[in-house]
Amino acid sequence: MYTVPKLGDYSLAALDAAVRELLSALESESKTITSEADWKVFRDRWMSRKHGVLTQLRDNWLKNAPPHAKKDVGLRFNHLQAQVQQFVFGYAMSFVSKRIRDFPADPGKTLKLIKAEEAEARLKKDRLDITLPGIRRPIGAEHPVIKAQNEMVGVFKAMGYSVSEGPEIETDYYNFEALNFPPNHPARDTQDTLFIAGQQAKPLRERLLLRTHTSPVQIRTMERLAPPIRVVIPGKVHRNDAPDASHSPMFHQIEGLAVDTNITFCDLKGTLDHAMKAFFGSSVKTRFQPSFFPFTEPSAEVAISCIFCGGKGCRTCKQGGWIELLGCGMVDPNVFEFVRANGYDPAKVSGFAFGMGADRIALLKYGVDDIQLFFQGDVRFLEQFA
Ligand code: PHE
Repeated sequence: MYTVPKLGDYSLAALDAAVRELLSALESESKTITSEADWKVFRDRWMSRKHGVLTQLRDNWLKNAPPHAKKDVGLRFNHLQAQVQQFVFGYAMSFVSKRIRDFPADPGKTLKLIKAEEAEARLKKDRLDITLPGIRRPIGAEHPVIKAQNEMVGVFKAMGYSVSEGPEIETDYYNFEALNFPPNHPARDTQDTLFIAGQQAKPLRERLLLRTHTSPVQIRTMERLAPPIRVVIPGKVHRNDAPDASHSPMFHQIEGLAVDTNITFCDLKGTLDHAMKAFFGSSVKTRFQPSFFPFTEPSAEVAISCIFCGGKGCRTCKQGGWIELLGCGMVDPNVFEFVRANGYDPAKVSGFAFGMGADRIALLKYGVDDIQLFFQGDVRFLEQFA
């Protein structure tokens, strides 16, 4: 078996003699190959990266060559490498062509046979009785809160409002600061909520919380669109409220915002009066009472005449004849200051905003006496609204 000799003498004659010896060893070893396994041994002996003859040549001859002989050795090495590769892969080709010869004449046919067998087995296994009645998938229905919400949004769409949405996880900036709730202002206490944990390192305005109202989308909308705007914003909100018949820590609001030149409180009154009549019926009356919100000035609380007793007094309106429904007011100039750059100069534009509870109006509209029913997921309750 051939082993790579040490080259003591780097003369051309010695080099060529070594090359001849190697080539004749390559040829005679290749003649002993009779199987694919033989060929693999042959291939590894000559070409394996770790100990193959080519590697040994590189390590013994090329690396040890004195500078003046490097070029001659290099040329011969390249030639030998090509020869070895040609022998090794030449033999590989002969195996490949033999395999091709052995391949079934029509492989497609064999494949089809296999497939047919498989299909038959599967049919036997999965036999089904087509005379059995099918499974009827119950069709879902709009949730009553969403249904009332969509209906109210529709009332405003008919008045030319567009619809917008915003994130339920908000920053302190949008939920409070830009709505004129300064840090530590007591008005924040009325809107306690869940904050995302571990944010102490962030500046207050960047901290995330579950939004307590849909009003932050007022700011987001004004950042996005220059005046004039008219937009309604439905969405989910959260507050630290213990659940009872009229409270839920998660509920829904419908926000409204209109900004233009010369918008007055009359526009606000007329718009909401119309919306309440369109939603609850034309005999409904509205009542505005002074209130407070940091982001509106003046602010008002709106009540509608009781839709159950017509204002005479009943259990639902606690004998008062009125049902409080929403908060509203004229956009506070301080709020415009936060979006002034987008065309909201408080000296030039004015606007009104309102926010109502979607769950609240659904309770009234459908005569439900417990808000919890909306969130318990009892299909027997929910399917009545389908
Ligand atoms: N965001 C207020 C709340 O949740 C309601 C409101 C909206 C009041 C818009 C005035 C203007 O209580």
